[in-house]
Amino acid sequence: MTNPTETKTSAAVTYQFPTDFWWGTASSATQMEGAAFEGGKGLNIWDYWYMQQPNRFFNGVSATEASNFYHLYEQDIALMKELGHNTFRFSISWSRLFPEGVGEVNEEAITFYNNVINCLIDHDIEPFINLYHFDMPMALQDRGGWESRDVVDAYVQFAKTCFELFGDRVMTWFTHNEPIVPVEGGYLYDFHYPNVVDFKRAVQVAYHSILSSALAIQAYRKQGQPGQIGIILNLTPSYPRSQHPADLKASRLADAIFNRSFLDPSVLGTFPKELIDVLQEQGAMPEMQPGDLDLIRANTIDLLGINYYQPRRVKAKASLPNPDAPFLPENLFDFYEMPGRKMNPYRGWEIYEQGVYDILINLKDNYGNIPCFISENGMGVEGEERYRDTDGSVQDDYRIDFIREHLKWTHRALEEGANVKGYHLWTFMDNWSWSNAYKNRYGFVGVDLATQERTVKKSGHWFKQVITNHGFTE
Ligand code: NOJ
Repeated sequence: MTNPTETKTSAAVTYQFPTDFWWGTASSATQMEGAAFEGGKGLNIWDYWYMQQPNRFFNGVSATEASNFYHLYEQDIALMKELGHNTFRFSISWSRLFPEGVGEVNEEAITFYNNVINCLIDHDIEPFINLYHFDMPMALQDRGGWESRDVVDAYVQFAKTCFELFGDRVMTWFTHNEPIVPVEGGYLYDFHYPNVVDFKRAVQVAYHSILSSALAIQAYRKQGQPGQIGIILNLTPSYPRSQHPADLKASRLADAIFNRSFLDPSVLGTFPKELIDVLQEQGAMPEMQPGDLDLIRANTIDLLGINYYQPRRVKAKASLPNPDAPFLPENLFDFYEMPGRKMNPYRGWEIYEQGVYDILINLKDNYGNIPCFISENGMGVEGEERYRDTDGSVQDDYRIDFIREHLKWTHRALEEGANVKGYHLWTFMDNWSWSNAYKNRYGFVGVDLATQERTVKKSGHWFKQVITNHGFTE
């Protein structure tokens, strides 16, 4: 990769990125494809949960139609090209490829994903594929989901099939996106199906996700595939309230539980001691089989995707947790709101751009400077329609500021030697977001839900200029 440069004149600073930097967006099958009951797709947990409890979804809206990428992919990819993108991350819907999770492969799914991959390549956009993005096939959830070792085997079968089918053209693969989220949502905090609250079961799910990732990596390499394979993690830098030992300890624990639990095994092949201590204290060590830990150690990633949205502000626990309530990580520390912090007023999340730099420098200093990229960053905005111009385009200057500030910190890390290879916004076009449905809009491209019409926002045009110039000046 060519070196980044930051040029300062008296008035302006230029943030120049390498000419081969990856610029693009990220997405996921459930959130974008639609056609949930078409093309031979089987049910996944999102289809099923909606049938059971539609009221758990914002405005009662399901993912059945989403942004209809299944039917509109050609025009969407053409628009990506028009906006200058050189990479695009999407996921393969497991229950589209294997309607029952295992067994027979759905030919229509093979055709669809081949078409998408070929269309991207024809437009000089490199496809990045992620295998698991929160969408367990229902048939496998009925068999225990990630709690079950059989489901780990089924996932490895799914992964191998994807590599065999598409590995000749797809050079960048990811085993999971944000694997901690199904643990938190499904087994700790009740925002994903199966809505369990149980720390020990959550740990088993987390462990099996890590194991499945290592097994998929092993399979990829055994097949002699020509590309690189990694994982995408949502990293939330953990900042202590003060340098008091109790606050520092609290922050270290939050880091071990929410970041290092997946980061360490993925990059280093080991688990942090702080985490093991908590699991042992809680009697929550997962069930493992002999050889598992060696396998995890031997199959670490080539490339790390970093999803960064906001940090965690952590302090020592102010009061003892209720001993009768189920154990949650928050029994060990408290979160707090830093006075004067900058907020996304449309979503209620803190904006702390330096977080991206801190993550990158931590990877450089403590994780062998693993090749990485910003695989998600972005700004969800509730009620974005009110920023629409008369021509329908959204004047999202707040998103431009958000991206620019994060890019500046990314640039600084690059200059200091971080191995960061690209930046992807979440997401290309407004899409359906889990139980929030369309509450928050994230795209470079607005989508009219009634007509599925796409309109490029101001940020989409701005980003094109950044790509064309390999950076920006201000
Ligand atoms: C994380 C996830 O990967 C994606 O599915 C989600 O919609 C975005 N971030 C926005 O919250």
